[in-house]
Amino acid sequence: MSQMKHIDNIPSTPGKFKEKSPYNRLRLHFSLTKLTFWSFVFLGLIFVFFFRSPSSSSSSPAASDLSRRSLRTSSYDGPAWEKRIKASAKVRSHSGISVLVTGAAGFVGTHVSAALKRRGDGVVGLDNFNDYYDPTLKRARQALLERTGVYIVEGDINDVALLKKLFDIVQFSHVMHLAAQAGVRYAMENPGSYVHSNIAGLVNVLEVCKNANPQPAIVWASSSSVYGLNTKVPFSEKDRTDQPASLYAATKKAGEEIAHTYNHIYGLSLTGLRFFTVYGPWGRPDMAYFFFTRDILKGKSIPIFEAANHGTVARDFTYIDDIVKGCLAALDTAEKSTGSGGKKKGPAQLRVFNLGNTSPVPVSDLVSILERLLKVKAKRSVMKLPRNGDVQFTHANISFAKRELGYKPTTDLHTGLKKFVRWYLSYYGDETKK
Ligand SMILES: NC(=O)c1ccc[n+]([C@@H]2O[C@H](COP(=O)([O-])OP(=O)(O)OC[C@H]3O[C@@H](n4cnc5c(N)ncnc54)[C@H](O)[C@@H]3O)[C@@H](O)[C@H]2O)c1
Repeated sequence: MSQMKHIDNIPSTPGKFKEKSPYNRLRLHFSLTKLTFWSFVFLGLIFVFFFRSPSSSSSSPAASDLSRRSLRTSSYDGPAWEKRIKASAKVRSHSGISVLVTGAAGFVGTHVSAALKRRGDGVVGLDNFNDYYDPTLKRARQALLERTGVYIVEGDINDVALLKKLFDIVQFSHVMHLAAQAGVRYAMENPGSYVHSNIAGLVNVLEVCKNANPQPAIVWASSSSVYGLNTKVPFSEKDRTDQPASLYAATKKAGEEIAHTYNHIYGLSLTGLRFFTVYGPWGRPDMAYFFFTRDILKGKSIPIFEAANHGTVARDFTYIDDIVKGCLAALDTAEKSTGSGGKKKGPAQLRVFNLGNTSPVPVSDLVSILERLLKVKAKRSVMKLPRNGDVQFTHANISFAKRELGYKPTTDLHTGLKKFVRWYLSYYGDETKK
């Protein structure tokens, strides 16, 4: 308040101010000194507000990564950066496509990006490297992709300016949109991260795609979780998906409706893929097969959930290579978007496919396979399935994907886990017993 009074004492028109006495001069000197001091404090606060350290900025990993991005864009945004993007996007086969892969440092994103690059497509990755799970694993995947010639731009899908810039640099024919907040239980801890990435982020990606010229075709990851409390098995694309059991599932279901809207209004070609429990090398540490392996090796007990009346909990585990084939087939069969300059020119393709394995396996059998592969007996602790988002079973009907995409999973759980365990032991090495 006293500061306000001093400011009020200074006439708004400096020319009219007349010094009356040395006391007045002294007061003016003090007022100016204080004004300067408070201006610096104010500017300092603005600086701290906009450029505070990401780790202290928010409990939400996605939000903290947003601020991290705003610091980094300027240093990345230059000729050398653009050159790396162009080199990564270079199509090397005559029928090749040019794909922006969001979530490229993620489990599925890494495998899909590598597979596209291997067959000669142009690939640019985008990922915010958030710390939902150990970011060093994401960095290791990034290093792996770099060796194959795929560059991952570090940024958030909510950064419209960055997305636009990427489309200015490269005319992407396709977008493989995999960036999302995954995991079912984490939604109770950090619901905002699901809205940020799975809803706001998806809308941003579609907005930029809709305005791009030409508009790309988009293939994106929905989830088997949209079937929620549906009890009709196997789950078919025509079954009801209006009973999600988790916020994660609800955001994926919302994504499917948002996709419908952008297809309907703007003529974007959109294909949603409902993945069923994907597993394999370079997988996600928050998934049961992954942390069971870690905990069995460490001699820790592992929770095996059972449903009411000792009901079995089962999953349609799908090996990553089969999912990758499904993703590539979806990209290859995607028709062009029909809009241009944000306007629809005709009806465009809109599809949703189940990508599963069609053979659900009880979680207790998964543990038995891991015990055999690791040669360690698991300490099982049987518990009631908590009502925090998990469903009792998943089982995909894949006949539609088979017919339209030629999708045919070929890896059974034992074979796939063997490959996962081999990778796990080589990646974590000596750490496994700590
Ligand atoms: N793995 C599965 O079993 C499974 C099952 C169903 C659906 N899905 C879906 O498949 C996709 C890929 O899953 P995944 O298992 O590879 O998960 P993942 O967490 O390993 O990969 C997602 C990647 O997206 C990035 N990301 C998240 N929010 C972002 C944002 N706002 N901006 C930029 N990057 C962001 C993350 O850093 C991460 O690297 C996701 O959409 C997921 O919901 C996965």
